[in-house]
Amino acid sequence: MTVLKSLLDTGSDAFRANAAHYRAKIEALEALRREQRLGGPEKARARHEQKGKLLPRERVERLLDPGSPFLELGELAGLGKYEDVPPGAGIITGIGLVAGRHCMVIANDATVKGGTYFGMTCKKHVRAQRIAWNNRLPVITLVDSGGAFLPDQANIFPDEGQFGSIFHNQVGMSGDGIPQIAVVMGPCTAGGAYIPALCDEVVIVRGQGFMYLGGPELTYAATGERVDNETLGGGKMHCSVSGVTDHLAENDAHALAITREIVAHLGEPGTRRKTPAPPAPPAYPVEQIHGIISRDAKVPTDNREIVARLVDASAFHEFKPLYGDTLMTGWARIHGHEVGILANTGVLFVEAALKATHFIDLCVQRDIPLLFLADVNGFMVGREVEQAGIAKAGAKMITAMSSARVPKFTIITGGSYGAGYLAMLGRPFQPDAMFAWPTGRAAIMGPDQAASVLAQVRAQINEREGRRWTEAEDEAFRAPIRREYETFQDAYNFAANLWVDGILQPAETRDVLALLLDIAARRPKVETRFGVFRF
Ligand code: COA
Repeated sequence: MTVLKSLLDTGSDAFRANAAHYRAKIEALEALRREQRLGGPEKARARHEQKGKLLPRERVERLLDPGSPFLELGELAGLGKYEDVPPGAGIITGIGLVAGRHCMVIANDATVKGGTYFGMTCKKHVRAQRIAWNNRLPVITLVDSGGAFLPDQANIFPDEGQFGSIFHNQVGMSGDGIPQIAVVMGPCTAGGAYIPALCDEVVIVRGQGFMYLGGPELTYAATGERVDNETLGGGKMHCSVSGVTDHLAENDAHALAITREIVAHLGEPGTRRKTPAPPAPPAYPVEQIHGIISRDAKVPTDNREIVARLVDASAFHEFKPLYGDTLMTGWARIHGHEVGILANTGVLFVEAALKATHFIDLCVQRDIPLLFLADVNGFMVGREVEQAGIAKAGAKMITAMSSARVPKFTIITGGSYGAGYLAMLGRPFQPDAMFAWPTGRAAIMGPDQAASVLAQVRAQINEREGRRWTEAEDEAFRAPIRREYETFQDAYNFAANLWVDGILQPAETRDVLALLLDIAARRPKVETRFGVFRF
């Protein structure tokens, strides 16, 4: 094991200016998180509490083991997408400890548009299920929702990945033996009623939780029958007459206590297949990353310095350090958990892609999880590399990365572009979790390159049609493309669309990865079957 040596000059003006720039980015992230944690408007929160209900975050807190951490996922999903809706899309999802067992917690926020589901709410719920499924985590859903946000039906109703997929996943997960518990703490209407109905055990709060396919108004309109909430779908009725729910609670706190007892009787949790080493902090402070990543996005980052601040004792057993040196590959530990790291240190060439393929194969053979630290402009282009077969070298890397069934994680630390974004375990390759740092960016290509390519296409058309453009016209053509790409590539756009599971501060990254690695170490090993490698 080599201890990575840092060459960083922490006294330089550049370091100080970069660090100040990064700190401002972290403050902006924290401001958004605060907005998200607050939930709906003051009036809605006050009405919620007047009904004797706990606010959704208080519910989550009471459910979890006291003092234990909660890894929130999709915090910024829906950011800026819906009027009067704070980031988070009206639902809280995350991993926490309940009765000593890691669970996926999904909680509707009834203070945000009655806890109704927008398109992004569905996507976030489905993503939480996927993470739970991959890791065999029990799922606890705290239901308090008016069902579909009716004006957004195109994004909720007809397609895969929308509301109906929640049920489809519930059935599939149940078939795979994953426990699911629902706690009905408010309304649970129409399609929403199937979420608890498809769970193993359901808790409902007396006089507060209501569950029915059609509420009193709809029932009257459809059948002419006049019936009150309680008779139609109240807790007492469902626990004693219909059998739709199993445990009657007197209030939120009681319901959450019952839920903790249910979790305590879910049978034996999976045991860890791996033995972590004693954890050790990196040899250099992780906060120094703020000063390493340049405030000027065009200045590349020395990712050796980044890895030195992410892994235990900065110890890194590098694989093929003298070959394909635009990609750093090697083994390290994070809070004691072993991980194989691929970190870009330049554009991907043939050798780097072949090295990645070999390295991934080794990690699969040794059953070691993979961590991709993405900061790449893409694959090299040009006659020389084409003739050297970069297309088949890249295809090998993609085949290895895509086939590998060890736990896989991605952090976009810098710019991640084009096929480089994809080959470094981009979202389409279904990473177990994927985060971006506030400096993360991703797009088909950079803003300047996109403007250039489209301007060249335009110039060819102009030439064909005998038109000439002035320099000012050319610039007027490029400027909006650049702006659009700037907005698109932003980490917050990725978080808003749930193309990443969240934005992390560099300093949070080790803890998050350690939790995910710990959980992944408890799931059964899945055999990898590689696709065909082109030689
Ligand atoms: N679609 C769109 N908007 C909805 C909605 C729905 N299904 N249900 C509630 N809302 C909106 C309300 O218009 C209101 O918006 P505002 O904040 O801009 O004023 C906000 O959510 C809160 O609704 P409100 O009725 O004031 O809250 P409440 O706590 O008193 O009641 C519900 C919440 C969910 C019980 C109640 O709104 C309701 O019954 N909604 C319809 C439920 C339904 O039939 N859903 C079927 C879906 S398949």
